[in-house]
Amino acid sequence: MSLANASANISPLAKQTTIALLGTGTVGSAFLSRLARLQKTSQAKNFRLVQVSNTRHSLRDFLGLDPSLVSEDLPNNAPDPLEQIARTLGYAGIIIDATASEEVAGWHARWLASGFKVVTANKAGTGGNLTSFQIINHQIKNYGDAATVGAGLPLLRSLRELRSGGDNIHGIAGILSGSLAWLFNNYDGMRPFSSFVREARSLGYTEPDPRIDLSGQDVKRKLLILARTAGYALEADAIKVESLLPPELADANLHDVDSQLESLDAPLCARFLAAHRVGRRLRFIARLNQAGEATIGLEELAPDDALANGSGCDNRVAIWSDRYPSNALVIQGPGAGAEVTAAALLDDVIRLS
Ligand SMILES: NC(=O)c1ccc[n+]([C@@H]2O[C@H](COP(=O)([O-])OP(=O)(O)OC[C@H]3O[C@@H](n4cnc5c(N)ncnc54)[C@H](OP(=O)(O)O)[C@@H]3O)[C@@H](O)[C@H]2O)c1
Repeated sequence: MSLANASANISPLAKQTTIALLGTGTVGSAFLSRLARLQKTSQAKNFRLVQVSNTRHSLRDFLGLDPSLVSEDLPNNAPDPLEQIARTLGYAGIIIDATASEEVAGWHARWLASGFKVVTANKAGTGGNLTSFQIINHQIKNYGDAATVGAGLPLLRSLRELRSGGDNIHGIAGILSGSLAWLFNNYDGMRPFSSFVREARSLGYTEPDPRIDLSGQDVKRKLLILARTAGYALEADAIKVESLLPPELADANLHDVDSQLESLDAPLCARFLAAHRVGRRLRFIARLNQAGEATIGLEELAPDDALANGSGCDNRVAIWSDRYPSNALVIQGPGAGAEVTAAALLDDVIRLS
């Protein structure tokens, strides 16, 4: 029998790549909606959703689940232990991590080592300890991480392509948080900063607890992923982070966060006025230099600086390399939000399947 005939005899099910989704929150739900829309096209015939889980429920069907029905329909049962997910998938399936769980991220390397592919929005896999990054990076061809930084903007891809084309990366600087971008694009020193934080939260730009954004910790994971991808073996504690949180806000319990937001106002107004007086703009910048030094915090930028402009929640990242030694390559665009993040996950699934 010829190879062509043999493959014609394989059932369509056997030809499809199986996929499992962990996490049905903001991003996971947007992924399911997008997958449901795509299933009306021929592209989606190449893969089959066989499992959807969150911390409370798990739904499995090896013949395929309808993504338009599962998020509301998850039965009340205990979720599969993480080691069993791989068995549900069968050979060479794709596991999609749409959680923020360290525990789930701890499985990425093991799943890759067992021959599975991993697509993730969870930064804890490659933005945690350096050893995990290095183990995952050995299997990077089976790892979809575009959603972890810039929600699918071509940042990690550009760094990899520059390096594989022979370039050394000399430095990276960027606005890596959609919520902090919005806050400093809009803050005018007239209205209190806390009122902008409340507005950003009501628009869904910050986490429900805005301290997660204002502490710079989320940006830190993103800079770690960018720096490591650029070839700098940075440990997590090598990055100096200037948190925007005064101690009374940092230490407040969750119920008191809103009433403590005013503690941001005086220090940020002083920073704004100091920058304004010399014609500069305040921006929250993550920066890596050629010596491998990495910092995160507020900077006063000249109005013509590549990172000083931009609007809304856009991410904006400058990359210097052998071919861009003085005029940086600048990548800008929407770098947060469920829709673009889910699109980045699905792009990676399609690429890996
Ligand atoms: N939201 C954005 O715009 C955005 C942008 C870029 C990247 N991301 C990243 O995307 C990830 C998801 O964000 P999100 O906003 O969708 O979060 P979310 O709304 O809080 O949803 C998280 C989901 O993960 C599930 N989960 C947690 N631990 C799990 C486990 N051990 N096994 C299975 N499921 C588990 C939760 O289950 P329960 O429903 O049972 O609680 C929930 O469904 C995060 O890593 C985030 O940093 C988000």
